Amino acid sequence: MTHARQQLTQVVAHRGASEDAPEHTLAAYRKAIEDGADALECDVRLTADGHLVCVHDRRVNRTSNGRGAVSALELADLAALDFGSRRTREFWRTRDEEPDWVFRPEDREDTSVLTLERLLELVADAGRRVELAIETKHPTRWAGQVEERLLALLKRFGLDAPASAAESPIRVMSFSARSLHRVRAASPTLPTVYLLQFVSPRLRDGRLPAGVRIAGPSIRIVRNHPGYIERLKGAGHQVHVWTVNEPEDVDLCVELGVDAIITNRPRAVLDRLGR
Ligand code: G3P
Ligand code: CA
Repeated sequence: MTHARQQLTQVVAHRGASEDAPEHTLAAYRKAIEDGADALECDVRLTADGHLVCVHDRRVNRTSNGRGAVSALELADLAALDFGSRRTREFWRTRDEEPDWVFRPEDREDTSVLTLERLLELVADAGRRVELAIETKHPTRWAGQVEERLLALLKRFGLDAPASAAESPIRVMSFSARSLHRVRAASPTLPTVYLLQFVSPRLRDGRLPAGVRIAGPSIRIVRNHPGYIERLKGAGHQVHVWTVNEPEDVDLCVELGVDAIITNRPRAVLDRLGR
């Protein structure tokens, strides 16, 4: 009798190795690849002139030395900012000591705004398979343009129409079922992840929006509702959990058979998994 091989829990670097370098910078993603992360997570937004950039917040105020909404700025405006000049709230919440990521002058360019195109190039040049989990932010504001631009960009890299979901190194994540629906309508084999901050009564039985095969619950959901994770798994869905930084949470995810752990500390999680 043959047994299905137990899949390894995938380790996904959330906004890059974002505890070691400023989030969503080339520096953070290079570090995540060096650390051995299986995949990288990034948030994408559209600039005023239609470029997809990797920025989490609606505004650039928290993560750069500039001010204003990404959607009101052009790529050239963003390129003039330094996204390594500010420390993130997440960083200070999780560390007491002074950070040690003081950049050498020659590394400063690694902290300018990161376009999704540049991130796709980095992944293509990684020298090994590195997957990319792309989260569409506030897609309703742009009424489909984020997904349209995203798929056009993926097409340029030959990544928009994988032979099957299992083969795709790319997946698209969103809290918006409508955004995922737009992606699937244009590219049915591209895997999609429905992110969950809480479990609505409609989804309590482990159901996901039509066509979605991967659930993305927060670690808080996993801690408080382990039975829900079992229901998702029982319904045949994959489960990708964010943002898992504590060793006991890593252990809980492994115990529950979670498929991917999304973390700010990829190296620490890989160590915990014995990899
Ligand atoms: O990976 C999913 C997670 O990133 C969702 O939350 O706010 O960090 O984008 P957020
Ligand atoms: Ca995200």
